[in-house]
Amino acid sequence: MDNLSLMREDLKYIWHPCTQMKDHQRVPLIPIKSAKGVYLEDFDGNRYIDAISSWWVNLFGHQNRYIKDKIKEQLDSLEHVIFAGFTHEQIIKLSRRLIKIAPDNLTKCFYADNGSSAIEVAIKMSFHHNKNKNLTKPYFVSLENSYHGETIGALSLGDLGIYKKSYEELLLKSIKTPVPKDKSKGEAIKAAKKLEEIFKKRGDEISAFVIEPLVQCAGGMHMYHPEYLKLSSKLCKEYDIHYIVDEIATGFGRTGYMFACESAEIKPDFMALSKGITGGYLPLSVVLLQEEVYEGFYCDYNLHKSFLHSHSYTGNALACAAANAVLDIFERDNILEKNRAKSQYIAKKLNRFLELKNVESIRQTGMIAALTLKGYDSTQRVGLRVYEYGLKEGVLLRPLGNVIYFMPPYIITYDEIDKMMDVAYEGIKSL
Ligand SMILES: Cc1ncc(COP(=O)(O)O)c(C=O)c1O
Repeated sequence: MDNLSLMREDLKYIWHPCTQMKDHQRVPLIPIKSAKGVYLEDFDGNRYIDAISSWWVNLFGHQNRYIKDKIKEQLDSLEHVIFAGFTHEQIIKLSRRLIKIAPDNLTKCFYADNGSSAIEVAIKMSFHHNKNKNLTKPYFVSLENSYHGETIGALSLGDLGIYKKSYEELLLKSIKTPVPKDKSKGEAIKAAKKLEEIFKKRGDEISAFVIEPLVQCAGGMHMYHPEYLKLSSKLCKEYDIHYIVDEIATGFGRTGYMFACESAEIKPDFMALSKGITGGYLPLSVVLLQEEVYEGFYCDYNLHKSFLHSHSYTGNALACAAANAVLDIFERDNILEKNRAKSQYIAKKLNRFLELKNVESIRQTGMIAALTLKGYDSTQRVGLRVYEYGLKEGVLLRPLGNVIYFMPPYIITYDEIDKMMDVAYEGIKSL
């Protein structure tokens, strides 16, 4: 089989996510045959550095020996079991470990199987918990430029028109508040004042405030100061509004902390995790919550007070085995420390992009680095041109509009960082 024949066969049957399929009349779809470390290899023998960790999930490289062996081991005993009325060892172990490393007010885990569903769980739980206390609070507040997923609830919290606009009439009641404009403390304080104004006016109607901590990833890798986490969390406590921290993209070391909310030492009411949790091996997500919320649902049989939410694959044993392997690697290999040195190296290389006249700005938080292009309108689709250049030169750089970013697997070597960033540099220069 070769790339072209597989692409043709694929396009006969498949509608790909987040894709205008007509683009594939011109831009090739790439069938991947195998992958190892940071490299993907297609059916024509071309190799690409996975500079975006395959949509930010792959932490320790493709075909990671350790994670693979742990999944295989699990496969020999239990692949999956219904998670209502039954349990298994991997999920008990995983939950114990997550609770140990999460902020210490979080004591219970509720599982799902993708990020959007974890957000649905968190907002439903928040709303329902209030209802169990005879409070009806139908609104959610989230940040301008945010992204929390594609299911209707999660989409309602997001603020990116390209994903959301067509569904406006279907969405939940949500209020948007300004995100700090940049990484300065001053902007964080300004934005928190705006949030306070909303809470003052409508605090009684708001169940929860939902936030991507430190970095709005899908929103163009927009970064802000941890002071905003501190101030917004304080306001939520003051106004009795739940604080839901969406660590789906930022969790598991991506920002330089195990969880980004540690940067401000806050104690959220709910924390949603997914993506890197299994190192990119299998779908899994989880919402961590406080005992008080759990107890709010704990009662003698009462249909309306119970949280009767489920997904068929909740708590899949293979996914949990992968997640335990990921936590083993964090513990064993001192990943956060090693990432610090790599982040510093990436920072140095990122500075060079400012030499280019079509680069407006650069920014970085931990193992996320990004730059914004200037001088083009959206119809020129310059990001796509950088993407195509990258593929030709062996690097997968999937842009977000006119933002080019680097979010590689943590096992990337210094030579591979050089290649990843040099190709992006040349691609941008050639525009
Ligand atoms: C911050 C954030 N929340 C939620 C999601 C949704 O996760 P999923 O794509 O697994 O539904 C994403 C996905 O990119 C995300 O970045």
